[in-house]
Amino acid sequence: MGINIEALDGVLQPVAGATGLPNEFYVDEQTFAAERDAVFFKNWAAIGFCKDVPQEADARPVTFLGIPLLLVRGRDGKVRVFQNTCRHRGMILVDKPAKVRGVIRCPYHSWCYDLDGKLKTTPHVGGPGFNVHEDIDRDDLGLVEIRSAVWQDIIFVNLSTDAQPFEIYAEKLTQRWHEFERPCYFGGPDSEFDLEVKSNWKLAVENYCESYHLPWIHPGLNSYSRLEDHYHIMENGHFSGQGTTVYNPSLSSEQAFSNFGGLSQKWDSQAEYIALFPNVLLGVHRDHRYAIVLVPDSIEKTTERVAIYYASEDMLDDSHAELRAKNTALWKEIFEEDIFVVEGMQSGRHGRYFDGGKFSPVMDEPTWVFHHWVASQMVRDRESP
Ligand code: FES
Ligand SMILES: [Fe+2]
Repeated sequence: MGINIEALDGVLQPVAGATGLPNEFYVDEQTFAAERDAVFFKNWAAIGFCKDVPQEADARPVTFLGIPLLLVRGRDGKVRVFQNTCRHRGMILVDKPAKVRGVIRCPYHSWCYDLDGKLKTTPHVGGPGFNVHEDIDRDDLGLVEIRSAVWQDIIFVNLSTDAQPFEIYAEKLTQRWHEFERPCYFGGPDSEFDLEVKSNWKLAVENYCESYHLPWIHPGLNSYSRLEDHYHIMENGHFSGQGTTVYNPSLSSEQAFSNFGGLSQKWDSQAEYIALFPNVLLGVHRDHRYAIVLVPDSIEKTTERVAIYYASEDMLDDSHAELRAKNTALWKEIFEEDIFVVEGMQSGRHGRYFDGGKFSPVMDEPTWVFHHWVASQMVRDRESP
């Protein structure tokens, strides 16, 4: 099928007259390949969390849209992202999460790299017993480091290398949430889970940034945080989402999580849920935050990687384990309720006469902001490949 740029004219209209992205954006492999370059590689895409490599010398392979990457935490505590490909004959270097003992050794001919990616040893490269050769310049043969940035424990990469700096890319959001620009602490194994959905990654974003579906998909949530308690959040070209004005955690009558320090009064009752384009879904509350990294496994399959963070290290101790588990269970239930619609919309997009759909100018505007952004990325890519 391939991509028809003219078909995006309708998506780029103001919300009242706009149509949604056409079906090929959800079911056509050629369009998925074009989207991979224009949407993911040319922007800052999330690929995982620093907590995935919690300690010095931890390494973890990640395949992102077919590209083999390697997360490594260095001796300096910094997380770096490398292409997980040996500079000799292109062997995959690390095939499962590992603790690096000394150096990263390629399993094929044992070329070894340090945690900074420098090539350190090249056994027998100049013939048996000769570990150097004048044509093998180790300084030129380090691992390829991928341009990366870390924000709130989330690891982002820019594979095209030419996106604006991450700080600028995310600036509108960090400004909006400047009060949350402070350390947060990963809750640990009881505060993470993955959900696999048989859906294109975009439908998870689209569903996340609107509250219109609340009464029907989340009746439990809707009983205390009603449709009319929500407001829209839109920053065209950057992010969109929604917020509630009645956040009031009640997991336990005896115990509560401590709050992030220095928050203004509005956060006593507000909480916000924002999709930072392309693929990270975020939630902030006065006492915890979470991030969902959407991993596009294929055009019709996505893994949602959820991680929950707290305001202080004290919240990670055993005395809060039950409370953390309850909080995780609450979010898991809500995100699982969404699977039905996200997968249902995916099936619906195989209906060949579906025209991208019609947005409610009142209820669907945050979703339209996302469609508009995706369409804009495709057009930009066409104009400057
Ligand atoms: S391919 Fe890695 S050492 Fe040969
Ligand atoms: Fe939902």
